[in-house]
Amino acid sequence: MKKHIIEQTEVFVRNELGEDATGHDWFHVDRVRRNALHICKEEKAGDPFIIEMAALLHDISDEKLNESSEKGEEKLENFLRTIPLTDEDKKHIKQIIATISFKGGQNTILLTIEAEIVQDADRLDAIGAIGIARAFAYGGKKGQSIYDPSIAVRQEMTVEEYRKGKSTSIHHFYEKLLKLKDLLNTETAQKMAENRQQMMVTFLEQFYQEWDGQV
Ligand code: ADP
Ligand code: NI
Repeated sequence: MKKHIIEQTEVFVRNELGEDATGHDWFHVDRVRRNALHICKEEKAGDPFIIEMAALLHDISDEKLNESSEKGEEKLENFLRTIPLTDEDKKHIKQIIATISFKGGQNTILLTIEAEIVQDADRLDAIGAIGIARAFAYGGKKGQSIYDPSIAVRQEMTVEEYRKGKSTSIHHFYEKLLKLKDLLNTETAQKMAENRQQMMVTFLEQFYQEWDGQV
């Protein structure tokens, strides 16, 4: 029964996100799902079914991928209506999705271990080699520069500034990516983040050396 629900959800998400090129494609979702289940297993915590469902659906209602956040919520709601789950499970899945987004650094309080795990898995996919690739893919799609040394790094910002303000993909490392490791909830994810963090630090060092023509 649960296996069938997962399969149904995979088909829905593949159809919805398949063509996206901003870094929110099906492969991102699949990596988040696998990372989340790995963390769940290592930590021996959380309900794996709820975690897998929330991971699969976590980007469906994202305001960036929909006309509005209301339209996004409607899409998720309409899908949940078609699957045989208890209202309690549906509520939990929706609540996880609503609370995990980064949105410029405002920390929402996470209510359940399942939410903590899915958030960690999503954050792990924003750092390391994959995170580097996604940052430039996203930046390219938005028409933002790779780097511009004349633009200042923004320290505190509102959600609006985070989405709209002028920035570059290299700046995004300081505004978000390098901070993520200290925001992880579980020890398993913190461990997984170590190599990924080192990867980004090394990448940035090399980037500036090449920028300055030193290598
Ligand atoms: P969240 O899911 O926390 O809202 P986003 O959806 O904003 O994060 O980001 C999706 C991916 O695009 C992430 O890998 C993120 O690092 C990257 N990204 C988001 N904003 C920018 C930006 N201004 N420049 C470069 N990459 C970005
Ligand atoms: Ni995501």
